[in-house]
Amino acid sequence: MKRDLQLKTPLFDAMVTLAESRKVSFHTPGHKSGKGISTRFRKFVGPKIFTIDLTTLDEVDSLQRPIGVIKQAQALAAEAYGAEASFFLLNGTTGGNHAMILTACRPDAPVLVARNAHKSVLAGLIFSGAKPTFFSPEINSDLKLAMNISTEDAKAAIDAHPEAKTLILTSPNYYGIAADLKGIIAYAHQGNVAVLVDEAHGPHLHFHPELPCSAMAAGADLAVQSTHKIIGGMTQASMLHANTKRIDLNFLSSVLRQVQSTSPSYILMASLDLARMQMATEGEKLLEKAIRLAGKARKKINTIAGLSCFDRAVLNRRAGRNVRDLDVTKLTISVEGLGLSGYRVSQILNNEYQIQVEMADPSHILVIISIGDRQDDIDRLLQALQGISTSYYDQKNKQTLSQKIGIPPMGRPTGMRPRDAFFHPKSLLPIEKAMGRICSEIITVYPPGIPILIPGEEVTPEVVSYLTEIASLGATVDGLDAERRISVADTKVLKTGKDAAPAMKASIS
Ligand SMILES: Cc1ncc(COP(=O)(O)O)c(C=O)c1O
Repeated sequence: MKRDLQLKTPLFDAMVTLAESRKVSFHTPGHKSGKGISTRFRKFVGPKIFTIDLTTLDEVDSLQRPIGVIKQAQALAAEAYGAEASFFLLNGTTGGNHAMILTACRPDAPVLVARNAHKSVLAGLIFSGAKPTFFSPEINSDLKLAMNISTEDAKAAIDAHPEAKTLILTSPNYYGIAADLKGIIAYAHQGNVAVLVDEAHGPHLHFHPELPCSAMAAGADLAVQSTHKIIGGMTQASMLHANTKRIDLNFLSSVLRQVQSTSPSYILMASLDLARMQMATEGEKLLEKAIRLAGKARKKINTIAGLSCFDRAVLNRRAGRNVRDLDVTKLTISVEGLGLSGYRVSQILNNEYQIQVEMADPSHILVIISIGDRQDDIDRLLQALQGISTSYYDQKNKQTLSQKIGIPPMGRPTGMRPRDAFFHPKSLLPIEKAMGRICSEIITVYPPGIPILIPGEEVTPEVVSYLTEIASLGATVDGLDAERRISVADTKVLKTGKDAAPAMKASIS
């Protein structure tokens, strides 16, 4: 990476120059550099931000057909991430997953998909009409967490489906657990299978040697990252990177022109230009600090009664083949020993300590440590956790709520394509009446957003009881309506288990 080059921020520079030139605007946006914006808004954020809320103009280039400063900014991103080409995304990794799948998968194309996929991957499959075969990561019953997919299972899926020329992986997962991308991608490429990686949680990986190998470094054909989630992009700003002989990048550009707004936010794009510059020029130093802060916090958490937070060594010992590496900046804190659910601890932290965590599940809270964190904020979290432990930890009365709730089940594959189920005539049924029917929605417990039911899967008794229990614990079940009804296709289950991934397995730990 050329440091001098990476210090450049061509898009942001052009935006500032244009804003400072004070040209008279008779074009969109209608607020005309903030003159027409609501006073309350301007007073809160200050006037300057509106002067760089620009539109497509010669000086600042066009995202739809980049030939100037956006082209240069994307080329710098490609160099920084070791890609052949990079593309700025304004609808998050959601939009990137849609574009990636629409580009790589024609209608009816067989595609292998790791089942720990975000709903945007499933939406991509619905839009494209591809025919997915899912394979599952194991759930570690000791850690009560979904691991990532194992190399053996990925290879077995590739071997079992030689007709599939696309493989979609998600790595790292929400908890920072990474798959063996290098091993899997090398194997896939031997069979000329293109590998697309949802790397929403990994825009920082490329910039520190102690973090898991990034998708681009591992040889992925395409990878999408939420720059906004972990590093300096503003919310919704993501990037798609490509390095491929298997996928036509002209077609990818064409798809991006269809799925992206024709009025992209220059503020979001500038944040990508600057976030890339920051990572490329001082990322290692900034991430080093985040890694050290996370390491110290993890150690301290493991001394608090009722809490535990695994590190790489523990994860490897307990999960063995099902995990390759851990992004140590994610702190997955098990709260089971307090006799409280993760949801409850998250609420207590928010309401009593004014601390907000990334997410909760029945057994854990998840804390993201990033380049924006300071020791004093982490000290506040540690004090709060100590306070909760003092109030709730009772050695005699140790109960684990998640033992009751158990491992998330999944729907039973029926062989129906997600697209066919999604567009099939449908009805809304209360969950318990939906048993045995084909789901026509994406049902996820969000976060972490891994689907319990995919359109085309049969609603099983295990799914019904899990959804009922988890909703009563306080989880948000995405895909059910306000009355907790589920959308099902007006058809009977025709086949069971055909084209199916095995149901999620619980590992022996
Ligand atoms: C694995 C994964 N992929 C994709 C997304 C969507 O990313 P975005 O919010 O940038 O659209 C998320 C969001 O949480 C995610 O966890």
